[in-house]
Amino acid sequence: MIAKELRQKYLDFFKSKEHAIIPSSPLVPENDPTTLFINSGMHPLVPYLMGEKHPLGKRLTDAQKCIRTGDIDEVGDTTHHTFFEMLGNWSLGDYFKKEAISWSFEFLTSPEWLGLDKKRLACSVFEGDVDASFDEEAYNIWKNLGMPEKKIAKLPKKNNWWGPAGITGPCGGDTEMFYWVGDLDKVPESFNDDNDLWVEIWNDVFMEFNKNAEGKYEKLEKQNVDTGMGLERVLAALNGFSDNYRTELFWPIIQKIEELSGKKYDESPEIKKAMRIISDHIKASAFIIADGVSPSNTERGYILRRLIRRAIRQGHLLGIKNNFTIEIAKVVQKIYGEIYPEILGEKVFNILEEEENKFRKTLENGLKEFEKYLSNPEGNYINRKVGDELQQANLYPNDDTANMMFNLYQTYGFPIEMVFEELEKANIGIDNDKRTKIESKFNEKLKQHQELSRTASVGMFKGGLADNKEETTQLHTVAHLMLAGLRKILGNHVHQKGSNINGERLRFDFSHPDKMTEEQKKAVEDFVNGAIESKTEVVMEEMTPEEAKNAGAEGEFGHKYGDKVKVYSIEGYSKEICGGPHVENTGDIKGVFKIKKEESSSAGVRRIKAVVE
Ligand code: SER
Repeated sequence: MIAKELRQKYLDFFKSKEHAIIPSSPLVPENDPTTLFINSGMHPLVPYLMGEKHPLGKRLTDAQKCIRTGDIDEVGDTTHHTFFEMLGNWSLGDYFKKEAISWSFEFLTSPEWLGLDKKRLACSVFEGDVDASFDEEAYNIWKNLGMPEKKIAKLPKKNNWWGPAGITGPCGGDTEMFYWVGDLDKVPESFNDDNDLWVEIWNDVFMEFNKNAEGKYEKLEKQNVDTGMGLERVLAALNGFSDNYRTELFWPIIQKIEELSGKKYDESPEIKKAMRIISDHIKASAFIIADGVSPSNTERGYILRRLIRRAIRQGHLLGIKNNFTIEIAKVVQKIYGEIYPEILGEKVFNILEEEENKFRKTLENGLKEFEKYLSNPEGNYINRKVGDELQQANLYPNDDTANMMFNLYQTYGFPIEMVFEELEKANIGIDNDKRTKIESKFNEKLKQHQELSRTASVGMFKGGLADNKEETTQLHTVAHLMLAGLRKILGNHVHQKGSNINGERLRFDFSHPDKMTEEQKKAVEDFVNGAIESKTEVVMEEMTPEEAKNAGAEGEFGHKYGDKVKVYSIEGYSKEICGGPHVENTGDIKGVFKIKKEESSSAGVRRIKAVVE
């Protein structure tokens, strides 16, 4: 089975169960400051899982692009990916456990759909703890479907609980399905979580709770179902591969890397790993760029930069001498262009090329810096004797050396293994014992640093869309008013380029070539404050994207919308396509709107930070 067929079958099956098919959201969350990227199928649906009405009804299904950055370091094995697609179906306060599980089972086993051998299936359910009790209902549903009891594992939260996608938001216990990828005559009688031949293929989450900012689980008003099936894994399992990179979603990329490097995937575990990292990272980078992110040193841009640079570094390890990321991206476009046309075009190439050149420059500078260490006769690090013979470097396995290595890594992106390689090139051998000691000191530093940056990024996860705070909702409406004001004052070339809202402030990016003058800022403030004072009703209507466009609603019309969208209108001020939530009346916005800062965000894009105080 090929990916296209699997996606289509999944969507068709749920359509036959009265689900509306919705398009994948972009990878950059719209209005959710709690995470950098969409990390699951349910993520863009959080407002609806929290009770917002969805214009297409209570049953939805889609294939969603996802980025998971949590396990970038695990990429290189057979199943972890930065970019992947998740097939999912949702019940927004409609059906619950019985239908969800029975449909999952039907889709997997019915000859009309995937027709998998029932003998190869097992599942797990939530065993219960202080937050929620044992999921006896799910257990019994599986039993009644004919699943042998030994193949229904009861597992704790660590395994059978999902969410929230950010720090706060909807979550709940789940039931997971596993597929035996070993020989059919060797299927064990019972399910064992430790056996890699049982591959997790699907997850049905029963979302009954909202985890709030205090870490408490509050019961949601409505019970929802959120399911997720990892496309790459299932495709591999269905085709009998234990390595996802053998599927058609990766193999052409691997072949391209073989061609560029003159090495073979199966040559050695190291080569395999390097090729996997390159294909994963450049694929993810292409999708991230396509959704509007450029490399930088913060947040999303930093993740992108790391992915590209790690891939390049692996390319160098494989002996690829010239710029190569564009060649890989071309293959990615071939694989995905039909389903996700946003990745087509030159933009992806240009950004990759530019970053590759920058990184090359950085490495050159780093090498020079390193040369200085090597050639310093009094240096603490190296005491190089004259002569041709292979010399033992006097590189002390102490904190100084680790600092030097860490500095090279931090400032120039110079990985430690590269430092050792350079030492070898300079004919300076390092014995293994010393090398291990230096590496472990370096890793200690790296860990400290990562912990620090993790703590810093958790800071930005506070608040967020999922907690639905009143202030956040007010600022959503303010964002609409402000966009309308900007368009009125600056012109119709202004469109929204991104936004990030929390309870305290609104950050808003928009297309405009010049710095705004004080008068323009004042005029926009007056426009928004006028709308607040006018106490105008905020009206929501549902219509097709075509109707919305004809009604003059602001929205990204290049962007894929579902068959129906919500349009929020503030008579006399604004009309915009949006998922919500919004206040009911502009008079509910408490305070005076103020632009705190207006600055450049990137070429042709300005950024405003604003508050209501
Ligand atoms: N949110 C769940 C997951 O990501 C199910 O969609 O596995």
